[in-house]
Amino acid sequence: MDAGTLLQVTNLDAGYGAKRVVHGASLHVGEGEIIAILGHNGAGKSTLLNAMCGVIKPTAGQVLFRGHNITGFSPSASVPAGISYAPQGGQIFRTLSVTDNLLMGGFTQTDQGSLAAKVTEVRQLFPALDARRDVRAGSLSGGERQMLAIGMLLLASPRLVVLDEPSGGLSPLFVDRVYDAIRGIRDRVGASVVLVEQDLSHALDVADRVYVLANGRIIHECARADFGHGDALAQKLLGFQSQ
Ligand SMILES: Nc1ncnc2c1ncn2[C@@H]1O[C@H](COP(=O)(O)OP(=O)(O)OP(=O)(O)O)[C@@H](O)[C@H]1O
Ligand SMILES: [Mg+2]
Repeated sequence: MDAGTLLQVTNLDAGYGAKRVVHGASLHVGEGEIIAILGHNGAGKSTLLNAMCGVIKPTAGQVLFRGHNITGFSPSASVPAGISYAPQGGQIFRTLSVTDNLLMGGFTQTDQGSLAAKVTEVRQLFPALDARRDVRAGSLSGGERQMLAIGMLLLASPRLVVLDEPSGGLSPLFVDRVYDAIRGIRDRVGASVVLVEQDLSHALDVADRVYVLANGRIIHECARADFGHGDALAQKLLGFQSQ
């Protein structure tokens, strides 16, 4: 494993009961990298992330994080290790205020001073959340909820942030804001990012490298620059026209 490698996934198999969904997936994430995993509905993207982050146990393969074997670790063990995962659709506490949700995200932090500094950092990343800091999270719009879900992850001081379809169901304005924040996660927070998307254009804008998943197998890996926006390869692999 290279010194700069944060996450190394090797030959991962995963599924549900007897149903095998992910077959021999291998990928790696470097320090400061943004990785996009692209693929059709049902390709197995969420299942791959769930297995990487320990929401489901992989049936074979290995996950190394900063050189430590965390294969099958539950999220409650991987969050303190430095991985924060936002499953598809995001998860927030609807009855709590925006600020209290952020504080819940920082439950692993014991230093109150650094917790307060983190809340300030997240408010700067998401000014729209700051304006709504005292409202109940259940009354936020879909886009604001997505920002809050990502903001909560950052409170745990992650080294790696894993996002499942951060643009899912959002209007273009909110998608732009969420992607600004994803850049901020790398550039201001200093964490690496793995994101799964069907929104090709935004993911390709922000990613350093791209993996393509089809039928539970990684069928292509390349640098962003080699993927090409709207090129024949992208259209063939993903089966739709990028704009
Ligand atoms: N909890 C589950 N139990 C059984 N099968 C599941 C479960 N979750 C997903 N699957 C199946 O696993 C396969 C891959 O689903 P997965 O959610 O990983 O795909 P995806 O690429 O994330 O799709 P999408 O883009 O729609 O989110 C599908 O056939 C799906 O029906
Ligand atoms: Mg999914």
